[in-house]
Amino acid sequence: MKICVLPGDGIGPEITAEAVRVLKALDLKIELEEALLGGCAIDVAKDPFPEATQKLAKAADAVLLGAVGGPQWDSNPRELRPERGLLRIRKELGLFANLRPAILYPELANASTLKAEVVAGLDILIVRELTGDIYFGQPRGIEVRNGERVGFNTMIYSESEIRRILHVAFAAAMKRNKKVCSVDKMNVLECTQLWRDVAIEVSKEYPEVELSHMLVDNAAMQLVKAPKQFDVMVTGNMFGDILSDEASMLTGSIGMLPSASLDANNKGLYEPSHGSAPDIAGKGLANPLATILSAAMMLRYTFANEATACRIEGAVKKVLAQGFRTGDIYESGTKRVGTREMGDAVLAAL
Ligand code: IPM
Ligand code: MG
Repeated sequence: MKICVLPGDGIGPEITAEAVRVLKALDLKIELEEALLGGCAIDVAKDPFPEATQKLAKAADAVLLGAVGGPQWDSNPRELRPERGLLRIRKELGLFANLRPAILYPELANASTLKAEVVAGLDILIVRELTGDIYFGQPRGIEVRNGERVGFNTMIYSESEIRRILHVAFAAAMKRNKKVCSVDKMNVLECTQLWRDVAIEVSKEYPEVELSHMLVDNAAMQLVKAPKQFDVMVTGNMFGDILSDEASMLTGSIGMLPSASLDANNKGLYEPSHGSAPDIAGKGLANPLATILSAAMMLRYTFANEATACRIEGAVKKVLAQGFRTGDIYESGTKRVGTREMGDAVLAAL
């Protein structure tokens, strides 16, 4: 198993180091190779996704990514921003299916800002399309028209792009509670009218799965009102970006949430859902659990090693039950630990 490790910026190197320790502790035949992505790559190679990284990432079976970005690169031209590296690796590797689970661990019920009864037992999966939509649509830009500046982007989906992500959502639902909620804005946007039409067509191939539709504004509201009504939510790139951040907070901390971005052959890029947290970078305070859980997703989806994925997830549950907490999930009466100690605890639990 060839894994390309991209620690990235901010807390990225600290949290990926813990996930790598976990992978190495397991009885797996893995080859790990590190490369640069994001701001660190801009500093060294003047490119957020340099040639050498492209080669390694393309040759690997899976990519483990920390996080990219930081204030020092925010005023760079768009092509030289860390986020651009992330968008390019997604696009160039064809990673169109982004799976973002939001699971509330019973031990962390108090970490959510919502009432415990609203979120207890929460287990939803957001399936976000990742290589299309307004993120990549042409034309785009800022230009002067009639003596003033105008900014414009294009929301666009072809039916084949919609169909393949809907298949991912339905297949995931078949292994879960057999419910798919497709999120669109068909009352205003033609692009998402097509989304809804294609969702209905694809659903005919999955008679056991119940398909519902929701407008994105209502979906945002329902996520905080009654999140447990959802099993799998599927939506486009931009709505998925927004709704997945919202869903993460139902669980109390974005520091717990892994994600997988898959191509058509289950090659994948695995990363925590959170960002590079420059404010706590280098201090050993970051929560490595989302990255460790991302490594578990890697074993499940790319390497079809369900048993070892469950072993890692079991170890994470155990350290939470033992009371270990990084600052983001700390509450009084628990043991506050740093990044390395949390990694140690997971290794001990394994
Ligand atoms: C995410 C992030 C990225 C996105 C940014 C950093 C480009 O917000 O992965 O959700 O918008 O997709
Ligand atoms: Mg986002």
